[in-house]
Parts: sequence; structure tokens; C-alpha cells
Amino acid sequence: MPIALTVNRKKVSVTTDSDKPLLWVLREDLHMAGTKFGCGQGLCGACTVLMDGQAVRSCQTPISAAAGKAITTIEGAKALPQGAALVEAWQAIDVPQCGYCQAGQILSATALLQANPKPSDAEIDEGMNGNICRCATYIRIRRAIRMAAG
Ligand code: FES
Repeated sequence: MPIALTVNRKKVSVTTDSDKPLLWVLREDLHMAGTKFGCGQGLCGACTVLMDGQAVRSCQTPISAAAGKAITTIEGAKALPQGAALVEAWQAIDVPQCGYCQAGQILSATALLQANPKPSDAEIDEGMNGNICRCATYIRIRRAIRMAAG
């Protein structure tokens, strides 16, 4: 049965196994490669997207759970004011090293700023706690979030 959802403000319908993770629906069925596969176990945060404004791990979200929901991926992050400010700050500060985790970092930071427009450093650290960066760009990530928060 087709599953209907909204991805980056566009209505889409996918016919697939209802248990298939949202991550793989995005990458394989919808050909959006910005959302990354890291651990596949909900541990690293590389696959983070927004679902109805909440940061979720798309590797742990069956597509059936996304039915009728609004998904924002890195491809659509700039359509949100917080996402646009974060992408700008990320570029200004040149945050990424290898870059692999950064889509998930930006989506988690978007959810953080939506919930808390002026987070303290401690709140940034807590909010970004679930997103691992193998290159340890954490200091630049924090600076970029502060810059985006204005
Ligand atoms: Fe989903 Fe690591 S790939 S949390």
C-alpha cells in the first residue's frame, strides 16, 4: 500500500515495505542522498532528520511511522529560518572536516534552535549530545550554533 508523507514541503507517496527505515526510503526510493547512514543503530546521529519539527533518527524510524508526517532533510533545511541561519554559519566558520556527520548535526541544531532560540553553551552541548563527529569538530559546531542564534 502506498505511504504518503511530505518531504521538504513536497507531498510524496512511496510503495515499499512498511518496516523499511525512513533513511533508506529517502536515499533509495526518493533519491535524496543528503541523509547519511552511520551506525544504523540509533547511536551516531548521522541520519537525523526532522519529523513534524522533532529531530529523529531516520535509521530507527520505519516509514510507516512517517506516514502523514512532515519530514525535513538537509536538502530542505534552508527553507526553515533556523536551518538557513545554521547553513550560513556552518559555511562562514567552515565547520566540516570530512563532512559525513554534518547533515545530521545541522538538523539536530535546527531542532535545538527551534525549541531554544538562544541556547547557552551547556544547552548546546546537551542538545547536540547525540550527534557524534569522528573528526571532533565540536568546537566549531558550537561556535556556528552560537553565530546562527545571533
Ligand atoms: Fe542512524 Fe547512526 S545511522 S543513528
